[in-house]
Amino acid sequence: MRQARILSAGMYLPERVVTNGDLEAIKELDTSDEWIQQRSGIRARRYVSNGESGTDMAVHASKQAVENAGLTMDDIEFIIYATLSPDYTFPGNGCFLQERLFGDRTIGAMDVRNQCSGFIYGLAAADSFIKTGLYDHILLVGTEVHSTGLDFTRNGRDVTVLFGDGAGAVVVGPAPEGHPGIMASALHSEGKHARELWLESPASAMNPRISHEALDQGRHYPMMNGRVVFKHAVTRMVEVSHEVLARARRKIAEVALFLPHQANMRINQMVASYLRIPEEKMVSTIQWTGNTTAATIPICMCEAIRQGKLKENDLVLLTAFGSGFTWASTLLAW
Ligand SMILES: CC(C)(COP(=O)(O)OP(=O)(O)OC[C@H]1O[C@@H](n2cnc3c(N)ncnc32)[C@H](O)[C@@H]1OP(=O)(O)O)[C@@H](O)C(=O)NCCC(=O)NCCS
Repeated sequence: MRQARILSAGMYLPERVVTNGDLEAIKELDTSDEWIQQRSGIRARRYVSNGESGTDMAVHASKQAVENAGLTMDDIEFIIYATLSPDYTFPGNGCFLQERLFGDRTIGAMDVRNQCSGFIYGLAAADSFIKTGLYDHILLVGTEVHSTGLDFTRNGRDVTVLFGDGAGAVVVGPAPEGHPGIMASALHSEGKHARELWLESPASAMNPRISHEALDQGRHYPMMNGRVVFKHAVTRMVEVSHEVLARARRKIAEVALFLPHQANMRINQMVASYLRIPEEKMVSTIQWTGNTTAATIPICMCEAIRQGKLKENDLVLLTAFGSGFTWASTLLAW
């Protein structure tokens, strides 16, 4: 069976920069630059403006990824779109992106949830589709628009300061003969912790799906038990990284670059230290992006490329953890 590999990456961040100072200036939020930086490493994030949507951002990131692969849209045969913040409840953003980029070419579009692990779940699907010969070139996109759904009062400050908007995309295609490409993936979930980090309303589990009561109680904003999330994130990211290395029969010392999901700098520093990955082998973008959920890993990949840190055949470890709980890891040769 042939191997699949990531051929290229692209990213897009909205123009509007929101610094910790800007958040500090919102009296009702009652936060500070010092608290945010100390707890998360975040200094700024981007927010959409003027009605910009996740699909709009996906268009920019996708065009860049396809161009960087030396391909055209005509070469793309399938879309996988990961996001927890689709433009509308249904259909998913994959269809809107199909319209924007492919018009009359009615290629398939699959929407992936899986929150912060969505990109790796999508990558595992793309890998399988290419390995089995179903498709040759797949566009895998992760976007997130958090800023339109955050609580800018004291009640939501723990969540609000952490998140930002953004988009990342990669093109996945066949690896040349002898290139290991995507070597192994491991995907996990544990729904007993679903309510530790979730957005409850609107919900089809309720009738009506949204009520005045739910709005008054702020149940349309994300809720997070930060300490529980932190603890599980560190444990699971370490565990799944070891799992994927074992599956590929590789050692941690062989990893050239660690591109972890960007939820919190402190989580990633702890994970890297437990894994014994030196900091110079880890890429961080959270300082200027915040947590862009399904978009963090492709954005990190773009940053690694920009810094000249990704070389042909380098072993790259991707690891993520998020709402669900879900967690996942992929080991690949660049
Ligand atoms: C959210 C997180 C940064 C909070 O850090 P923490 O050290 O655990 O802080 P705590 O939740 O214990 O809160 C400490 C204090 O800070 C306050 N606080 C919370 N958010 C604040 C904010 N934005 N600004 C100022 N103070 C804040 C709390 O109210 C609490 O005050 P109290 O002691 O008077 O009650 C941390 O738990 C975390 O990173 N969790 C994981 C988050 C994550 O990764 N989510 C996405 C997963 S994909």
